[in-house]
Amino acid sequence: MAVAALLAAAMAAAHEPDPRLDYLMHCMGCHGLDGDGVRGKIPSLRESMPAFVRSRAGRDFLLSVPGASNSSLTDAELAGVMNWLINRFAPDSPAMAGRPFTTEEVTAVRRPPQSKVRENRARLLQSLAGSGPLPAEDY
Ligand code: HEC
Repeated sequence: MAVAALLAAAMAAAHEPDPRLDYLMHCMGCHGLDGDGVRGKIPSLRESMPAFVRSRAGRDFLLSVPGASNSSLTDAELAGVMNWLINRFAPDSPAMAGRPFTTEEVTAVRRPPQSKVRENRARLLQSLAGSGPLPAEDY
């Protein structure tokens, strides 16, 4: 009995949400350990996340870029990774106060992955002008 209980506990632990590990396994390969991206190729999540969460369209953009949309993470896991990133890069963001990413939000906007990411991003940056620091249009 004790062994079965231990085993059950170990299996439950294995399924504990671990957004940091999810990021390392599913995102870090491109975006880097510290989310800095790769100049000229991969945008910096450190710069993008705090800026884009300032609008509804920005939140949708973040959740539907191909890397996020197509990852094998579940909707709940993707929400967890997004909240973990925001807690890392903009822990005091007023835009996120009381509005963490939820599984329901991810399910609603994640799919299909957006096409024309560059154009969408440029439009988004224009719409966010004056709202605070923004990432460069060219990453
Ligand atoms: C195969 C490389 C790759 C992987 C893996 C990847 N991404 Fe990306 N990501 C990109 C590229 C390239 C872009 C730029 C947009 C595009 O071309 O898709 C991007 C853009 C983004 C953006 C928008 C940032 C901006 O400034 O435009 C977010 C948010 C993002 N990725 C999150 C994630 C998350 C979360 C994961 C893990 C679940 C992930 N990505 C996995 C390559 C990747």
